[in-house]
Amino acid sequence: IEDCLRLRTGCAQIDDLTRGGFRFKMINEVYGEAGVGKTQLCLQLAVAVQMPPISGAAFYVCTDKSFPANRLLELSLSVPSAFGLSGDESLMDKVFVEHSMDFIALRRLLFVKLPKLLENVRISLVVIDSIAAIFRSEDIKYLERSKEIDDICRQLNHLARTHNLVVVCVNQVTDDPNSDTSGPSLGNAWANYVVCRFLIERDWTNGIRRFRVVNAPYLKPDACRFIITQSGLH
Ligand code: GTP
Repeated sequence: IEDCLRLRTGCAQIDDLTRGGFRFKMINEVYGEAGVGKTQLCLQLAVAVQMPPISGAAFYVCTDKSFPANRLLELSLSVPSAFGLSGDESLMDKVFVEHSMDFIALRRLLFVKLPKLLENVRISLVVIDSIAAIFRSEDIKYLERSKEIDDICRQLNHLARTHNLVVVCVNQVTDDPNSDTSGPSLGNAWANYVVCRFLIERDWTNGIRRFRVVNAPYLKPDACRFIITQSGLH
């Protein structure tokens, strides 16, 4: 399993730290405070997944009103150089963007739309940006939320295994008033399904960010630094 195929990000430090990138057939989580670069990483992955040897498409669930299409275009032109290839705006066509504001819409995407798309398109990456936003609503009762998280994660795992997908879910941090540290949102109902958990944080030095392995089989807890420039994560 250690040497199995991974989805490289194209950011050398992160790829070294993770021994080759993100793993297939399971749920990966990237969490961190607002503005640390979680979306930037996911957009970069949506381009990187199209590079050989994976050469797959991406299914990107966006919970914001607008998807950063201009940024994806920029990365479509620049990220391939990390793979020794030249960029191309047509890479945008292989990123299937869907908007979803709540778990009812997400459920429809994961149980109907994505399975249908998988019949015709070789999707290799599914991004949910962000899973926290889906369950943010205070209208959902705790038990109902746990059940919805359960259903959605089971379906994600099922699709990830049967179609060999990398699943990356973005999560936010919650401030626990009883603790000095802030952890990922959504508690245990969600955490039980996450196999690889990564944190992005700001370094003390201006502009430098840190990518941290919080919990992942076969990886030791460790961190690396990276920056975000116009051409992506480096
Ligand atoms: P939330 O969605 O608010 O939770 O934040 P996030 O963690 O997803 O942050 P996001 O990925 O949107 O990162 C935003 C940051 O990326 C900005 O603050 C910029 O520092 C950086 N960034 C985005 N585009 C560019 C760019 O073209 N050039 C440079 N240098 N930085 C960029």
